[in-house]
Amino acid sequence: MLSTECDLPGKVAIVTGGSRGLGKTMAIGLANAGAHIVVCDVVDVKKTVSLLQSLGRESIGLKVDVTKPTDIAMMVKKTVEKFHTIDILVNNAGIVKSAPAESMIEDDWKKILAVNLTGEFLCAQAVGNQMIKQKQGRIINIASVAGILGSAQSAAYSASKAGIILLTKTLAVEWGKYGINVNAICPGIFLTDMTDSYIKDPGFVQMVKTRIPLGRYAHPEELMGAVVFLASNASTYVTGHTLVVDGGWTAGL
Ligand SMILES: NC(=O)c1ccc[n+]([C@@H]2O[C@H](COP(=O)([O-])OP(=O)(O)OC[C@H]3O[C@@H](n4cnc5c(N)ncnc54)[C@H](O)[C@@H]3O)[C@@H](O)[C@H]2O)c1
Repeated sequence: MLSTECDLPGKVAIVTGGSRGLGKTMAIGLANAGAHIVVCDVVDVKKTVSLLQSLGRESIGLKVDVTKPTDIAMMVKKTVEKFHTIDILVNNAGIVKSAPAESMIEDDWKKILAVNLTGEFLCAQAVGNQMIKQKQGRIINIASVAGILGSAQSAAYSASKAGIILLTKTLAVEWGKYGINVNAICPGIFLTDMTDSYIKDPGFVQMVKTRIPLGRYAHPEELMGAVVFLASNASTYVTGHTLVVDGGWTAGL
């Protein structure tokens, strides 16, 4: 029963920041469930597109900077031209830069907010307008546990991710009447290029062992189930929710 509910035969998904890391892995998860994928990124996405095609799905790659409204408009136009629908948006593109709040450079603050928060809003707005016409759609915003708990040197990143959680709830409230479900995922620590430098820090590794109940960080594949669930018929009555995938990190004091 559940495997049928989680199938996505012929659905069309856009994944931003899909060239590598969690975006690429979530794209593979959606493709394994049957979806065709539009991979968007500021960097080259050919390898990810080829991989998805090798899974037997249709896939195209687009060069899209989520801070640029013209790129986003092109993303929607090309997807609809090719597939005639957008069923799923995974708003995943994101950046991080650590700095103490007292000396954070204003340009870094602006850039992080522009990509992580404004970028997710602009993509949701452009795709949302298409989904409103269709009277159906799933938007999955990638936030972070850093949007739930405070952490040092993370003012801009944490503010952007907390913003995504409330943006998600607001869009769910506004767009439920159009049949659009909007949810967020808060990953804990997953092994990607983004977290590579943290994981080399012995103090961080010790923190992971002591603070995270499962005692380890996660592999990107461990996010596939959450995104497929929120994209599929297994979650038709779930909207405005924040699904935390963090090994229990935020469950305790
Ligand atoms: N890895 C983790 O542990 C973790 C934890 C919590 C949240 N997240 C979030 O998950 C998402 C993916 O993280 P990741 O670990 O795969 O990072 P990553 O750095 O490996 O991948 C991020 C991708 O986003 C792309 N990107 C950056 N700026 C962009 C822009 N302006 N327009 C389009 N694409 C852009 C990059 O080119 C890259 O392909 C991010 O939103 C991140 O904040 C990651």
